[in-house]
Amino acid sequence: MNIQHRSTRPFSDQRPGTSGLRKKVKVFQQPHYLENFVQSIFDTQTDLRGGTLVVGGDGRFYNREAIQVILRMAAANGVAKVMVGQGGLLSTPATSCVIRKYHTQGGIILSASHNPGGPDEDFGIKFNVPNGGPAPENVTEAIYRRTREIDSYKTLEADDIDLDTLGSVALGELQVDIIDPVDDYASLMQALFDFDAIHQLFNSGLFQMKFDAMHAITGPYAKRILIKMLGAEPETVINGTPLPDFGGGHPDPNLTHAHQLVELASGPDAVDFAAASDGDGDRNMILGKNFFVTPSDSLAVLAANAHLVPGYRRGLAGVARSMPTSQAVDRVADALGIECYETPTGWKFFGNLLDAGRITLCGEESFGTGSNHVREKDGLWAVLFWLNLLAVRHQSVATIVREHWKRYGRNFYTRYDYEAVDKDAAEGLMDHLRSRLGDLPGAALGHYKVEYADDFAYTDPVDGSRSERQGIRIGFEDGSRIVYRLSGTGTEGATLRVYLEAYAPDPAKHNLETAEVMQPLVLIAQELAEIEQRTGRKEPTVIT
Ligand code: G1P
Ligand code: ZN
Repeated sequence: MNIQHRSTRPFSDQRPGTSGLRKKVKVFQQPHYLENFVQSIFDTQTDLRGGTLVVGGDGRFYNREAIQVILRMAAANGVAKVMVGQGGLLSTPATSCVIRKYHTQGGIILSASHNPGGPDEDFGIKFNVPNGGPAPENVTEAIYRRTREIDSYKTLEADDIDLDTLGSVALGELQVDIIDPVDDYASLMQALFDFDAIHQLFNSGLFQMKFDAMHAITGPYAKRILIKMLGAEPETVINGTPLPDFGGGHPDPNLTHAHQLVELASGPDAVDFAAASDGDGDRNMILGKNFFVTPSDSLAVLAANAHLVPGYRRGLAGVARSMPTSQAVDRVADALGIECYETPTGWKFFGNLLDAGRITLCGEESFGTGSNHVREKDGLWAVLFWLNLLAVRHQSVATIVREHWKRYGRNFYTRYDYEAVDKDAAEGLMDHLRSRLGDLPGAALGHYKVEYADDFAYTDPVDGSRSERQGIRIGFEDGSRIVYRLSGTGTEGATLRVYLEAYAPDPAKHNLETAEVMQPLVLIAQELAEIEQRTGRKEPTVIT
């Protein structure tokens, strides 16, 4: 076989963000663009030479083409074996599972998560390290540095290989194993959850569920696990075929984008349980009959009930939540006598805690929940966890959550996003808040008395690394909070996120509407940060 050294030029815009390198498909289609980034992975991750690499994606437009490029380059760069999901498909958590199970030297995930797909939409590439998690900053920085100096890449002169037939084929010296994308992940789920109990729940005829795969990666996973293994009705999975453009939708499981599912869980004929996952399968949304479970509450409920699930029967080592996630799980940790870590936003901060065995469960308010079973958040895992609880507690979603509130109090929660705000205005707003931090403690804002105000900083308890300026926290004496931070994933201008949490220990208040409870805090948050004066925005772009 003929290995070619093709000359190329460096690109200056290939710095991976927290979720890898994400760009429009058109950008990735530029000559050598994808190749530059992939060669930079091979040049810096030298264990891949002679090693094994996992490759798969969420099935979006350009997924198959990108995989063929990567396979030819892996062959030319001396990789011994690549494991590829059949059809080029592998969810993000399944990739993490396969990397860990087969002790590979890493994996490449092709996805732009919940961003739309199609020729004019987004594509992305991300490298995961041998623990199964996203590459830490020193790795992504090294890859980025390499993308800026590279002048050639290696590839093999060879035809495309068949990605759809299971089995092993040779590409030059490289062994390519086309693996079933679901098998390993499904076995892991079976090892964690009580499949017999869930099977009985579906068999009872008294329980109806809908799972919305949003025409993204989780379709094949949900069909195999929910329908084939657990006996759910075939109609349980909707939008179950992965499409390159996700059917024109926005594969983000929230109340806005998963509206079809929300309708199925609303009204007198609502199903008992509904759930959705995103483009690459790492996010989740949980709904009961006419009942939305906030991701923050979901994490708290899973932690409080983990002992009911086989995989977590022996208890939790600890839990972690991202800083803006509500403090509901903190109260559970307190009751369990375990540590609760508050980390900066982004899944990567959980990796060290998981690897060190300090935590078992973790989550973010942004529809991400997970555990030590992989090193990514995991959408279907959260759904199966809930199914397991429903099956053994014989109660509805709403009852389980309401009982939780009764015991721990309710953390009402809402997030206001101001998208595409002028960058300087957004930074000015944050600086202004920072300048006021010293005056706030002890101040009365409406009915709320400020207990503390700071710019969140985190020292990783495992490696001692320090992350500063992670968002402004204003904590009130009654346990309520306002948090401000600028998004690290937005693509246009700046996105200001305002997270509001009102703590209500009194059960008499638990049935109030979230919007109503939040109103006083919303006004305080808007005034304190001078949002309208500084950004010109009276209202947020999105409320979740
Ligand atoms: C957002 C979420 C964050 C999540 C990240 C990647 O980041 O808020 O929790 O980890 O996407 O999915 P942000 O845009 O807020 O920086
Ligand atoms: Zn995702």
